[in-house]
Amino acid sequence: MYRTGIVTLSDKGAAGEREDLSGAVIREILEQAGFEVVSYKILADEGEDLKAELVRLSDEVKCDLVLTTGGTGFSPRDVTPEATLAIADRNAPGIAEAMRAYSMTVTKRAMLSRAVSVIRKSTLIINLPGSPKAVRESLEYILDTLSHGLEILSGKGGECARK
Ligand code: MTE
Repeated sequence: MYRTGIVTLSDKGAAGEREDLSGAVIREILEQAGFEVVSYKILADEGEDLKAELVRLSDEVKCDLVLTTGGTGFSPRDVTPEATLAIADRNAPGIAEAMRAYSMTVTKRAMLSRAVSVIRKSTLIINLPGSPKAVRESLEYILDTLSHGLEILSGKGGECARK
C-alpha cells in the first residue's frame, strides 16, 4: 500500500472561504485504488510554504507519492510548479506530459496548465490542476501506470515486462 500525501494550494481554501472539493476528489480516487492517505493539507499559494511541505512529506513522512492540486495556471499567485521544481532531485516529465496530452482531448485549456512531475529521493511528486473536474480527468488517466512507476521507484518491483 503506497503512502500518499495531498497538498491543496488555494488562498481561499486556506482562509476557510472555499471548500476543498479537489482535495476530496484526490482522496476518493486514491482510497478506491488502495492507496493510503497519510497527510492532507490546504496551503495558501506561497512558494516557500509549499517547498517546506513537499520536503517534509518526502524526507520525514516518507511518502511514496505526493499529489498537489491548484496553482499551476498563469495567475501571478500560481507558484506550484516553481516550488516543486525547486525541491526536486530528478525530473519525471512524462507524467505531466501525459496528463496534458489526454486533457487536451477534453479541453484545449489544458495547455494552460504548467504542472510538473518530479522525483525527490524516493518520492514521486505530481502537480494536478485546480478544479475538481480537472483533477478527476487527470488522475484517473495516470493512475494505473503510476503504480508501476512507484513499484520501480520504491524498489518493490523492478522489471518492466518486455512485450
Ligand atoms: N485539465 C483537465 N483535464 N481538465 C480541465 O478542465 N482545465 C485547465 C487546465 N487543465 C483543465 C485542465 C485550465 S482552465 C487551467 S487554467 C489550468 O489547468 C490550470 O489550472 P490551475 O491554475 O487551477 O492549476
